[in-house]
Amino acid sequence: MKVTIVGAGNVGATCADAIAYRRIASEIVLLDIREGFAEGKALDISQTATTLGFNTKVTGSTNDYSKTAGSDVVVITSGIPRKPGMTREELIGINAGIVKTVAENVLKFSPDTIIVVVSNPMDTMTYLTLKSTGLPKNRIIGMGGALDGSRFKTYLSQALDKPANDVQGMVIGGHGDTTMIPLTRLATYNGIPVSQFLSVEELAKVAADTMVGGATLTGLLGTSAWYAPGASVAYLVDSILNDQKKLIPCSVFVEGEYGQNDICIGVPCVIGKNGVEKIVDIQLNDAEKTLFAKSADAVRSMNDALKS
Ligand code: NAI
Repeated sequence: MKVTIVGAGNVGATCADAIAYRRIASEIVLLDIREGFAEGKALDISQTATTLGFNTKVTGSTNDYSKTAGSDVVVITSGIPRKPGMTREELIGINAGIVKTVAENVLKFSPDTIIVVVSNPMDTMTYLTLKSTGLPKNRIIGMGGALDGSRFKTYLSQALDKPANDVQGMVIGGHGDTTMIPLTRLATYNGIPVSQFLSVEELAKVAADTMVGGATLTGLLGTSAWYAPGASVAYLVDSILNDQKKLIPCSVFVEGEYGQNDICIGVPCVIGKNGVEKIVDIQLNDAEKTLFAKSADAVRSMNDALKS
């Protein structure tokens, strides 16, 4: 199975590294516009093969899309990241042009591929990719919920003082500091509602920390994060290539689900070899429904910026 990652920067290269060492794909192509950069990252990752014990072929390319031919999955991580104080939304103008061109180029050589969109503002970039390529909706997947969910579970585990892998939780809605919805009501510690262990105030703090999780890291690092984003993309790609049918909140095109239409927004999806195989309808309570509707409105108005 072949994966192309367009944008060999922090997130793209970390994702390639995780896909290689976890043996998720047989071949990875990293592509970037910076002369020699993707080749360098690919060579560096290749040289971990014998120490980490994988046989994945990892190559790099400076803007030569013919090298990406026949990819089963293409990940778009090209574009500019946030700087401290910026919102994801402020990236729209530059990243829209990049994402649209990249999607056109990859489809020339991999017409049957599934596209995973990572570049921000991710919900809008996913919508743009869907509309500009005309691909069926199951083949365009925005990655945000996997990352936001992993941050949510990390903060929950810290508040509970329990191992992160004993905690279950999900974040739906838009992938923005004010639009994401950590579903604290449904979060569990080994199947037991976390509300049995944490106070309302403690849960509210976990939710608030999750929502600004990306901004917190941008403030600390001076640019946006890459380990958790790269690992989250690899997790999603694994479910596609190995048909794992994991339930992962992803930004996908909705037609009536959760009461919304004509946007891409984070909803729980079964992800397998056909991409988005099912959108799962979880029963939200009235407060959660209101938050979801508000989040959808915010995503919709962001998409309006594509028209200007
Ligand atoms: P980065 O600046 O480290 O890497 C971006 C790479 O894209 C650079 O190497 C650049 O040369 C390349 N690039 C720019 N235009 C290109 C083009 N037309 N064709 C090919 N390559 C091109 O940025 P980083 O940190 O890797 O972030 C990438 C994107 O992912 C940003 O938009 C960031 O906001 C987003 N992001 C999304 C997350 C999510 O959860 N959806 C999480 C983290 C980052």
